Amino acid sequence: MKDQIESIRKSAQEAIASVKSSEELEALRVKFLGKKGSLTALLRTMGSLAAEERPIVGAMVNDVRIFLENEVEKCRAALSAAAMEQQLANEVIDVTMPGKKPNLGSLHPLTQVLNRIIEIFSGMGFSVVEGPEIETDYYNFTALNIPEDHPARDTQDSFYITDSILLRTQTSTVQIRTMQNHTQKLPIRIISPGRVYRSDNVDATHSPVFTQLEGLVVDKGVTMADLKGTLDTFAKTLYGEDAVLRFRPHHFPFTEPSAEVDMSCFVCGGKGCSVCKGEGWIEILGAGMVHPKVLEECGIDSSVYSGFAFGVGLERITMRHYGIDDMRLLSENDMRFLEQF
Ligand code: PHE
Repeated sequence: MKDQIESIRKSAQEAIASVKSSEELEALRVKFLGKKGSLTALLRTMGSLAAEERPIVGAMVNDVRIFLENEVEKCRAALSAAAMEQQLANEVIDVTMPGKKPNLGSLHPLTQVLNRIIEIFSGMGFSVVEGPEIETDYYNFTALNIPEDHPARDTQDSFYITDSILLRTQTSTVQIRTMQNHTQKLPIRIISPGRVYRSDNVDATHSPVFTQLEGLVVDKGVTMADLKGTLDTFAKTLYGEDAVLRFRPHHFPFTEPSAEVDMSCFVCGGKGCSVCKGEGWIEILGAGMVHPKVLEECGIDSSVYSGFAFGVGLERITMRHYGIDDMRLLSENDMRFLEQF
C-alpha cells in the first residue's frame, strides 16, 4: 500500500512537472486528486487494511494529497506567469519603428503673399476689415459714385443674383461699409482683402474670380503725397529697395484724382523684357484720392476730411512674387503645383 501511494506521488509529480497548458494540468488534477482519481480510489480500498494500519496509511494519503495539491498550485502559477509574459511579448510596441508620415499641407501661395502684405500694412498702422462677397448694387456701385449707365454695371461684366444683388466686383464696397459704420471712428486706416467676381474669360492672366486688397485712409489733411509714400513703402518692402513706382493718370468714379500705378519690372529693372512686354513697367494697382461725393455719401464732411484708396490684385502680385506664369494654377488646386510652396 505504501509503495502504491509512493508510486502515485511520484508519477503525479513527474506528470505535473512536464505539463504544458492549464488544460493539461486540470486533467492531471482530476486524474490523481479528483473524486474518481487514483488517490481517492486508494482510500476506498483501506477497508481491507488492518485497523492499526488505517490511520497511518490515511495520514500518508493525506500528506501526498496536500503535497500534490501544492504542486498543482505551483504549476498553475508558473503557467499563468508564462502566459502573461507571452502576451506582453506579443503586444510589445517597437517605438523605434518608423511611423506613418502624415501629409502636411502648407499655406496657399495667395495666402502666403496676403499674409506678407497684411504684415507690411499692419506695420504702417492699418487694420484688416472684411466685407460680404454678395453685395447690393448700392455698396458695389451707387455709393461709389458709379452712375446708372456705367459699363461696369452691365450684366456682361457682373454676376447678378437679382436685379439689385450681385457678387461684388471690387472690394471698394468695404470702403463704404467702413465709413458708414459709425462704430469705426475717424481716422480710418484699413486694408480689406477678399474675393471679387467679374464676368471674365478664363486665360493665363484673367479669371472670373480673383482676389483684391483694398486700402483706405481717411483723416484730416491726407494728401496724394501720403498715398505715394504709403505705396512706395509697400512696394519697397515687398520687392526690395530697387522697386520704383510710376503713377499714370486714370479714371475711377470713386477717386479723384485717380491713378494707375506701375512698378518697375522686377525682372529687367525697367529696360524692357518679355515679362513686362518690353515696357519696363508692370501695372500693379489702381489708386486715388477718395472722391468728395463718396465721403459725403458716408456722412463724412469732405471740407474737413480727405482720404486715399487703392486696390491691388493679389493674383498678379503673387504671380510676380513667385514667377508663376499662369493665373489658373492658383485656383486649380493641383497638388503638384501647390507642393512647391
Ligand atoms: N476698385 C478698383 C478696381 O477694381 C481699384 C481701386 C481701388 C481704384 C481703390 C482706386 C481706389 O479696379
